[in-house]
Amino acid sequence: MNKQLILALSKGRILDETLPLLADAGIEPAEDLGGSRKLLFDTNLPDVKLVIIRATDVPTYVQLGAADLGVAGKDVLLEHGAEGLYEPLDLEIAKCRLMTAGVKGAEPARARRRVATKFVDVARRYYAEQGIQAEVIKLYGAMELAPLMNLADEIVDIVDTGNTLRANGMEPRELIADISTRLVVNKAAMTMKHETLKPLIERLRQAVAKRR
Ligand code: ADP
Ligand code: PRP
Ligand code: MG
Repeated sequence: MNKQLILALSKGRILDETLPLLADAGIEPAEDLGGSRKLLFDTNLPDVKLVIIRATDVPTYVQLGAADLGVAGKDVLLEHGAEGLYEPLDLEIAKCRLMTAGVKGAEPARARRRVATKFVDVARRYYAEQGIQAEVIKLYGAMELAPLMNLADEIVDIVDTGNTLRANGMEPRELIADISTRLVVNKAAMTMKHETLKPLIERLRQAVAKRR
């Protein structure tokens, strides 16, 4: 039986919080990640390898089984969809909120609200549930700029301290979802590689619990 596990990690701000958590669970990269252009790494555990990829690509790798398990923000998972994935563990890192936001004091004037976001499916679902007509405009970053430039009436984006909104004359409006980073596991791997996956998930669960 193939016991090799590939763990997909999200590059960027989640990675800085993921590595100490993995270390607490006894999983450490075999070499320094920073000083390398490599994307695939050995670890201290002979059965576990790491890939470090764009946060938005993690659910795809795990869903299609190229990676057995992965670390991804709930925002990314909500946008991607849960097909083929188990979500056995909240890693309780990179906590933030997914919210609507708009220019401070401005009333959403138009009957059909223009909403700029990189979370287009989440936004479409949210506004439909609220019974609000919305034209969703896909952006890849700096959503806070869109209302200032009159590209949109509102945005759907991550809010943590609120500093980015405030610095751009905007205010948070409605909460869509509380966000944190989750462990996701390929559904087929969960069955086929249960013997190697189970202890790994349990070690991560204990590392998370120890921090509370
Ligand atoms: P991207 O380049 O796609 O924005 P980031 O590395 O900035 O990637 O963010 C990765 C994940 O970190 C997001 O999917 C989200 O779950 C979380 N995150 C993003 N912004 C914040 C924030 N300001 N505070 C805490 N967590 C955040
Ligand atoms: C994220 C998010 C918001 C900001 C919210 O951006 O997209 O802009 O953090 O955090 P705050 O409420 O504490 O200000 P990030 O810093 O990841 O920049 P990005 O546009 O490169 O993703
Ligand atoms: Mg970001």
